[in-house]
Amino acid sequence: MSRLIIEESPPLAGRVRVGGSKNAALPIMAAALMARGKCVIHDVPALSDIFVMQNIIESYGGATEYDCKSERMIIDASELGRHTADYELISKIRASFLILGPLLSRLGEVKTAMPGGCAIGGRPVDLHLKGMAALGAQIGLNHGYIEASAAKLRGAEVHLDFPSVGATENIIMAATLAKGRTIIGNCALEPEITDLCNFLVSIGADISGAGTDTITVNGVDSLNGGEYRIIPDRIEAGTFLAAACARPGGDVSLENADTAHLRPVIAKLREMGAQIEEKSGPGLLSIKTDDRLKAADVKTLPYPGFPTDMQAQFMALLAVSTGRGVMTETVFENRYMHAAEMSRMGACIKIDSRTAVVDGVRNLAGCPVKATDLRAGAALIIAALGADGVTEIFGVHHLERGYDRIDEKLRQLGARIIKIG
Ligand code: UD1
Repeated sequence: MSRLIIEESPPLAGRVRVGGSKNAALPIMAAALMARGKCVIHDVPALSDIFVMQNIIESYGGATEYDCKSERMIIDASELGRHTADYELISKIRASFLILGPLLSRLGEVKTAMPGGCAIGGRPVDLHLKGMAALGAQIGLNHGYIEASAAKLRGAEVHLDFPSVGATENIIMAATLAKGRTIIGNCALEPEITDLCNFLVSIGADISGAGTDTITVNGVDSLNGGEYRIIPDRIEAGTFLAAACARPGGDVSLENADTAHLRPVIAKLREMGAQIEEKSGPGLLSIKTDDRLKAADVKTLPYPGFPTDMQAQFMALLAVSTGRGVMTETVFENRYMHAAEMSRMGACIKIDSRTAVVDGVRNLAGCPVKATDLRAGAALIIAALGADGVTEIFGVHHLERGYDRIDEKLRQLGARIIKIG
């Protein structure tokens, strides 16, 4: 079984490059299913979630080519057939559900298994389905498969009950080739949605309002191929910023970090005492810490609030900060599975429903722990970097869903980390 071994490490120091955003690349790959030409997408990170999406696109008849070295993905869905991806493939990642909008829009029918992904709560898809139904789709659930069809989707007004990232993306894509105008209210504002819209517009879509809570999509007849570069991954960047604070004395610079997308994370780290500087250069951001961080309260919210995908990493920081911090997770239920593992390392965490009270301790103690989901894995690495002794992290496959060569990048910063198996 592969695992990460992290020995007691010095404070992180040096420079590291942030990769392209996984959560922007996945919907953009799904959107390429609507294009009748070749899409060349740059800065697509080499991650297992990306390879699953690549397989899904192929199982629906699209041709793909990925070069790990240049991180370039080519998708050609010109000759799309009517196929079904099997349950085993679809259930690997929740983002597989993002093929629903594009395929429905392009082919008029789609059959797909209910999605899987990280086990961080119920994660229903009702908002996606309500959106498709509002555009005129007939939807049925048959033996674990969603079957959706519409002779031609028609533009409509859709108001989301909650600003779901995936539902906003799916509805935008479905509306792209629909007849007429769709206005989506209470949209999610995440930068990955703006990136998806920018990509779609670059290949011929008519979309306005991305990055605001109301997005307007005027349906077009077809989309062309094109070339596009994915935005930097704000969660990978945030994870490195947090890792730099695991021990006092960290001094790390990030390349290819978009500071505009990191505002809530930067603000919280400054509140906790980290010194963060934005430098001139291609996305250069540096972080330093002299002392242990001071605890702060953290509440996750949809963008531009504090990201739920950074909650676990900040819990690791609170665990070694001075004082008490109260964490409130408002986006997902059941997203504190890392707390039990951190407690095994000596963290002092009390959980009541969506609230976690964390009393910082001077030193965590390394021990064997298990990553239960992607960000929980990242958080355990941060805890290990702030711990005495050796930490062994199992469940490495979760990390590989969202972090490209994280062990290698951390070694570059001086961490004593190796992957075994
Ligand atoms: C995306 C991100 C994920 C991030 C999350 C919130 C991708 C591939 N994943 O996930 O990393 O943690 O945004 O920032 O981009 N909900 C419903 N009904 C629905 C859809 C969602 O109730 O139909 C609920 C979810 O259960 C959850 C909340 O809405 O409680 C937020 O989910 P959503 O914004 O949809 O997250 P994802 O798109 O799945």
